[in-house]
Amino acid sequence: MASETAAAWDRFAAEYQRQAQLSTVAAQYGPDIPTEADLRLLGDVKGRRVLELGCGAAQCSIAFAKAGAIAIGVDFSAEQLGHARQLCDREEVKVDLRLADMADLAFLRADSVDAAFSSYAFNYVEDLGRVFRQVHRVLKVGAPLVFSLPHPAYFVMDEDSAPPVTERSYFDRSPERFQWGGVGFTGYHHTFADLYMGLVRASYRVDLVVEPEPIPGAPRSWFWHDAMDWLPRTLIVRARKEGN
Ligand SMILES: C[S@@+](CC[C@H](N)C(=O)[O-])C[C@H]1O[C@@H](n2cnc3c(N)ncnc32)[C@H](O)[C@@H]1O
Repeated sequence: MASETAAAWDRFAAEYQRQAQLSTVAAQYGPDIPTEADLRLLGDVKGRRVLELGCGAAQCSIAFAKAGAIAIGVDFSAEQLGHARQLCDREEVKVDLRLADMADLAFLRADSVDAAFSSYAFNYVEDLGRVFRQVHRVLKVGAPLVFSLPHPAYFVMDEDSAPPVTERSYFDRSPERFQWGGVGFTGYHHTFADLYMGLVRASYRVDLVVEPEPIPGAPRSWFWHDAMDWLPRTLIVRARKEGN
């Protein structure tokens, strides 16, 4: 299933990057909400090793590198990483880009990463527990894993209607097949309790949860739906590695 998702991202990469036009100024947690420049969930990254999981074209990793971080970006789509390489060259920024599944971080030493970050990639991962364990191994004790994904309450909605109406049960964890730009993808619904308990079981302490509201008055992105005025589109979680 992971290889199908990587292949889907390979097919969609060019169109996605053309449409999304993500900024490299500050790491973004999702569409139409404040960025890391406002939220400051990672703290000062200067001189710190920051790992991005599912980095796509690495816009966030580039922002970390511009802020002085030693940035490492992991993605399993060769096409997405090709865009990342071009963007790094264009912006003259160094990011250590790795073609890998985020569920297998064998190329990183244990206790070697100061912060892990992921924006809108965990919703393509079925077994998040495995990712949490892999990231736990490479993080230093006390270091944060900060991630965003579609809010589980939004995920079950038909976003084309406003106010949004439920289109699947909150309790239904079966994979969701959907088309995006003519490409078939599979998404995974992680309930809030699944996320929280998955982190606790993998020995993290959740210390922050954010449900950002759309920025009032700001121009709306390619991703905008009016349903985003009714429910949080994005859930952000920060968890810290407890002892080994
Ligand atoms: C929506 S993009 C997010 C990237 C970036 N944050 C953005 O907003 O454009 C999702 C990315 O996650 C990557 N991805 C999904 N599952 C992955 C996995 N198991 N291992 C590595 N990368 C993965 C995809 O290839 C894709 O580039």
